[in-house]
Formats: sequence, structure tokens, C-alpha cells
Amino acid sequence: MEQDSIIAKKIAELNGLVSSDNFNLVAARKQVTDINRLLDEATGIKTLRAADLVPPWIIKTVQFNSTSTPEERLQELERTGNNVFMVKAETIILDYLTDSGTGAQSDEQWAKIMTADERYSHSKTYEEFLPVARKIFGKNFVLPVHQGRSAENLVFSSLLKDLSERANHQGRKIVCTGNSFFDTTIGNTQNNGAKVISADCPESARTNEYFDFKGNADVDKIRSIVEEYGPENIGFIIMTVVNNTIGGQPVSLQNLKAVHQVAKEHKILFLLDSARIFENAYFIQQREPGYKDVTIEKIIAQMTELADVILMSGKKDGIVNMGGLIATDNEKLYKLFLNKCILIEGHYSYGGMSGRDLAAFTQGLKEGSNPKHLRQRINQVTEFGNGFRRLGLPIQWPPGSNGIFLDAREFLPHVDKNFFPAQRLCAEIYWRYGIRPVEIGLSLVGRDEAGIKNMPIKDFVRFTVPRRVYAKEHLEFTLEALSELYSIRDEIGGLIYKKEGLGNGHFTSSFEMVPVKDIPKLLPAVLEDFNTPKKTYQQTYFPPNALASDN
Ligand code: F0G
Repeated sequence: MEQDSIIAKKIAELNGLVSSDNFNLVAARKQVTDINRLLDEATGIKTLRAADLVPPWIIKTVQFNSTSTPEERLQELERTGNNVFMVKAETIILDYLTDSGTGAQSDEQWAKIMTADERYSHSKTYEEFLPVARKIFGKNFVLPVHQGRSAENLVFSSLLKDLSERANHQGRKIVCTGNSFFDTTIGNTQNNGAKVISADCPESARTNEYFDFKGNADVDKIRSIVEEYGPENIGFIIMTVVNNTIGGQPVSLQNLKAVHQVAKEHKILFLLDSARIFENAYFIQQREPGYKDVTIEKIIAQMTELADVILMSGKKDGIVNMGGLIATDNEKLYKLFLNKCILIEGHYSYGGMSGRDLAAFTQGLKEGSNPKHLRQRINQVTEFGNGFRRLGLPIQWPPGSNGIFLDAREFLPHVDKNFFPAQRLCAEIYWRYGIRPVEIGLSLVGRDEAGIKNMPIKDFVRFTVPRRVYAKEHLEFTLEALSELYSIRDEIGGLIYKKEGLGNGHFTSSFEMVPVKDIPKLLPAVLEDFNTPKKTYQQTYFPPNALASDN
């Protein structure tokens, strides 16, 4: 009886909603659809059709997922000091830590893994890799390396180390610029004595506003950096496609060409961090005027043609668990990299990879640059982002290529930005739902050269979507969880350091939870700690006699 009256009330409400004298369920549903469409238009969402989302593959093998309880996950947080980087992966139900090395490999890739040639040098596998990589990247010389950061190490140590030492002796500093550098890219640049100055376009900081190419560099700023420091002090200009750090956002060809022009005018080396170059090319095709009818292959060619050196982590767009490459037309540079490769990575024909990794990478390069794959990949991430937007969750808008970046300062406006709002949200989402995103914010940026805490422009919680791994239902579960969390956000506080990790501290720092009410009281002490130079955090050497000391 009570149930009946509830239903009757709901129908009356619906009748009111659809303002129809003659209530009709079909008409009501249509009107609800229309209301949703109007709401989408009002919030700038273009809902994708199933036809836009259907994958070009079917699922042939599955891996059963782990399960855990909130109590078990709370224990993990206690053990690790609330750092989701250190929790046991088997307690995670959905892992959005990264899209790097986490993609599902195809049956073709697994077949190539079985038939790969493991002979030491110039294996059949290497000989098959070379023409594929040469064709895609349009460069004569290609060096396989085991991942992106090893490419950075080989290239930056060759280009920057001597240059920086010489400059230091003369009281100068070598500077590298471009759009946002990834954290290992910053680390490898600094480790070779140079300073990083990022020059992102101003639109990238306005998370709520739509802009087609938020990954663009600020060309005027790059020009002024070159003028301020002098071209002879610029180590290189590097453009990262897509621009991961500010939201996986694409860079337009027009912007790449404009930045390249600055490099060319001043005879500065122009580098391309191509971890997600195929996904960037897809955005150019979809959004940049004049490219609608240009093939992905040709767009990639137009991008790579600009670069003196291409660095690629193959673990993203190359859809492999491990792999990477360096490509150039400059034989002198290739030989420098090659010699370093032999010392650090392995023979230049395998670059730190086993034959099977290289074989999977060769096939992954073909699949990752396939337009059908790219369409589904980008559309899946876009529709995931549309879901955030529909719930009113503050994200970098529009969605980028590799995941959704939630703006933690807007999600938790009552948490002061010095209290790691994004890191706190990661811990909260992990323990409550078994979902692991990753912080791209205050913990990640570490301290500057003087040992003072860096403050990022944005504090993001990144939900990075692995390629070909999660179904729509996985993503919908995530949205449901976040919607629930948003409704209780007032109760969520922040974090303070328990122990700050060395160097790239986000991997190893531990934190203590701080309730909302304690934040104002603790703020002065936190600010003092952040503004006190902590040289030790920059220490990357093992001090002499350290084993003999008491420390
Ligand atoms: N460049 C970019 C733009 C990256 O996103 C990464 C890695 C690298 C270089 C380094 O490549 O991991 O193969 O050594 N990004 C991963 C991420 C780890 O989660 O965004 P790697």
C-alpha cells in the first residue's frame, strides 16, 4: 500500500515535470532525454553515441581482478603513510595510476612475443623494428631504448652535461624550455646541470573553459626566455605531445610550427617528447582547421619532420609493457646516443629490451597509430570526462587523451592548498572504493634548487585510463563512487608530511591525515617547513664515509 502511494507520487511528479495532461511513459522518457540533451548543451558536453565508442577489438583473454575491503585498504594506508604509490597493488580494484605500460596487448603482439629473435645483435626482431619505426617517425636513425626516461638520460647527458659544466665555470646557466616537461624529463634535465622553464599557454590554467589545444606552448614566453638568457644558453626546446602534466592536452600543429620557428631562427635544437604523439595527431585531425581530411600518418609525419630529435616512451602510444626509442636524422647525434646506449642500456640493436619486448613494441607502434584504435581510445576517455562534467565534478576541460584530471582545489575548496588536497583525495578514493588515481600536484613537484617547496599551478587527481583494459562499466563504477564522495566532501580534510621523501618525493613520502578543523591551526608550521631550505631533499650522492657514520 505504502509502495503504491510512493509510485503514485512519483508519477504525479513526473507528470508535473513533463507538464502533460495525458501522462505517457514513452513521451516522458523522450522528454527526459531532451532535458539531458539541453543540460549537455548548457554544460558544453557533446554526448558520444555508442557507434562512436564501440571498440575495434573483442575481448579474447581476461584476467580476474583482485578484491579487498575498505578495512584492508585503511590498513594499507596506515602502513604506507597514506601514499597510494606504496600500497600493495593487489588491494586495488580499479587502477588509474598510469596509462604507461598498462595497456592490453593484442593477440598479434603475443604472437610476435613468441616468435621474437633473442640473438644479441642485429636480430631479426631489430631488423623488423627499424623499417616500421623509420616509416612512422620519418627519421633515418632509430635507437631502441627500454623506456622514455632512458631516452631522456642518453639524449640529455649527450646534449647538456658538458655544455652545463662549461657554462657553470663561466658563471652562466643552461636553460631548457618548451610546454610542460614530464617529471622525469625535468629530473633528467636538472641532473645534467640545466634549468627547466616551462611555458604553457595561459588557457591551460583555466580548467573550466573549453579550448581546443590547451597543450600548446606560450610562443611569446619562449621567445622572451630565449632573449633573456641568450640563444647560446638554451640547451634545447622540447615540446611534449600530448602535454601530460597539464591534463593530457593536445598541441596544435600551428603551435608546434611556431615554436619550431623560434628554435630554427636561433639555431636551437628542437626536440619532441612523443610518448603520446599518435593521440595528439588524432586531436589535430579532429580539431585543427584544415586537417579533417589529412591522414593520421601524414599528420604524424608533419609533426616529426620538425624535430631534430624524437624521444618516445613506447609504454603509452606504443601499447607495450616496456619499450622506447630515440629517432633523428642527424648522424653525429645518433652516434653520440649510440655510444652512450652501449654503456648504459645495452647494444644499440636492443637498447635494454629483450627481443620479445622489441617485437611487441614494433607491432604496438602499428596498432597504436591505427586510426580505428585512436578513435575508440580518445572517445572512451572523452565520454569518461563527460561523465565527470555531468556530475558537476571540476575537471580539466575538455578531456585530454590519457585520462581525466580532477581539480582537487575546486573539489575541496575548504582545504588550504598547502595541505595536499589532491593527495588526500587519492587516499580517500582508494580506501573507500578500491580505486587508485594519482596525484599530479603538490607532492609531485618537490622542492626547488634552493630546497624551498614548489607550489604547482594546479593540484590534480589524475584518472589515467589504460589502453584497451577497462569496459564502460568500470568507468561508470568510478563515476558512481566519485558522485558519492562529492556529496560528503565537506568532511574531507588534508594531509601533512610525516616524512618527506628524497628527490621525486611523491613515490616515497609519507603523510598524516589532518581533519578540516585543524587546518588553520597547523598552517603557520606547514608554511615554515615549506619555506625552510631543505638541501638534503636534493641530495643525489652518497656522502663519503656514510657507512661509517652513525646516520
Ligand atoms: N614523457 C612523458 C610525457 C611521460 O608521460 C612519461 C611517463 C615519460 C616521458 C617517461 O617515460 O615512464 O617510459 O620512462 N609517464 C608516465 C605517466 C610514467 O604515468 O604519465 P617512461
